[in-house]
Amino acid sequence: MFKQIQNYKSDPIEALFDRLAKDTDPAKIDLGIGVFRDESGKVPIMQAVRRAEQRLSERGLPKSYLSPLGNTAYCADIEKLTLGAEHPILRDARIVSAQTPGAGSALRAGAEFVNSLSPESTLWASQPIWGHQLEFFDKAGMDIRSYRYYDQQNAVFDFEGMLEDLKGMCRNDILLVHGCCHNPTGQDLNHQQWLQLADVVKKTGAIPFIDIAYQGFGEGIEEDVAGVRLFAECVPQMLLTVSSSKSFGIYRERAGLLSIIVSADDGTDIQSVRLKLRDTVRQLYFMAPDHGAAIVHEILSTPELERLWRQELDEIRHHIIEMRHLLRKALESANPGFDASFIERQHGMFSCLPITENEQQLLEHKYHIYMLPNARMNVAAMNSKQLDTLVQAFAFIRASRESAA
Ligand SMILES: Cc1ncc(COP(=O)(O)O)c(C=O)c1O
Repeated sequence: MFKQIQNYKSDPIEALFDRLAKDTDPAKIDLGIGVFRDESGKVPIMQAVRRAEQRLSERGLPKSYLSPLGNTAYCADIEKLTLGAEHPILRDARIVSAQTPGAGSALRAGAEFVNSLSPESTLWASQPIWGHQLEFFDKAGMDIRSYRYYDQQNAVFDFEGMLEDLKGMCRNDILLVHGCCHNPTGQDLNHQQWLQLADVVKKTGAIPFIDIAYQGFGEGIEEDVAGVRLFAECVPQMLLTVSSSKSFGIYRERAGLLSIIVSADDGTDIQSVRLKLRDTVRQLYFMAPDHGAAIVHEILSTPELERLWRQELDEIRHHIIEMRHLLRKALESANPGFDASFIERQHGMFSCLPITENEQQLLEHKYHIYMLPNARMNVAAMNSKQLDTLVQAFAFIRASRESAA
């Protein structure tokens, strides 16, 4: 059976990670993998996480099975953290959630859930989008269409194009939107744009699927979810995924949330939705690991740990904002006439450089700078010592363009 798998072509993002791992240059710059690195280049473990782990280990974490819905205390915490404790959806108990092995699994389970109810629904995804995200919907059997979002070569948010494309959505189509710190562009919607988007959703009868993977990395822990909170009040039903990987720095522990928010007045039986969600998850991967979810619950249910976590996340965000500022200034001073203001305007981990795929390859071969093929750059992995190389490399690309023109 297995010999039919021959010359299997690696996924381009995985292939990049393989090349990066093989590169022995001590000065190589990894702006590919989506983790936060501090000024010394380390992926730090938050003190709040260390203390929570210590408390859990002293108490002794149970090891027996949980339900496929996972750690329900974690679910309640993340629902509140995302929507706000007083949100009408929580007050009216219009939400059912599962704790999943990260938001990746939540997206996959959400896609399965939707497709089993409505196989004719199309998924609408931004162009560009995090490449791996589409696989979750594709493998669930959904048709995928893209909507205009960001013009990379001109660094412009195409909100008009987005609205125009989304007017083509049909009832029960699924609209995938990143709640904050869009991956890969860092380009987010403002308050007014969220409202306009909610209008299109209501008019078309589409169902939003909001994915939040970077709460606290953009403008603030509360600010980053303001759009989602607003949206959730305006639209009748939606799906929500939340990742704890980045906000708590627990990438490999795998903790995330999948929520289904149901309409208040169409007769939905919420208990049946809960059971169907439980069964969907069980059929996909049986059950999630608990360690990451237990850490997050320990933090969010212990006031002193929550305070510490908020402070540490604020520090991470300030570091990212500072890196964005330094990069913009350095790029502009080395390349007179080049407007790098988009780097400061955008939020969170990523921005895309306005270069082609060939130029991105050149950065890798000549300067050992690694980023995704679409020139997605992890600004949150940069440190100030790398600025000179980055700026030199970018100036080289611009000079090569000019001499070729
Ligand atoms: C937008 C988005 N959603 C979901 C995920 C998946 O995160 P997790 O590690 O929780 O699976 C990522 C990870 O990079 C992401 O960027």
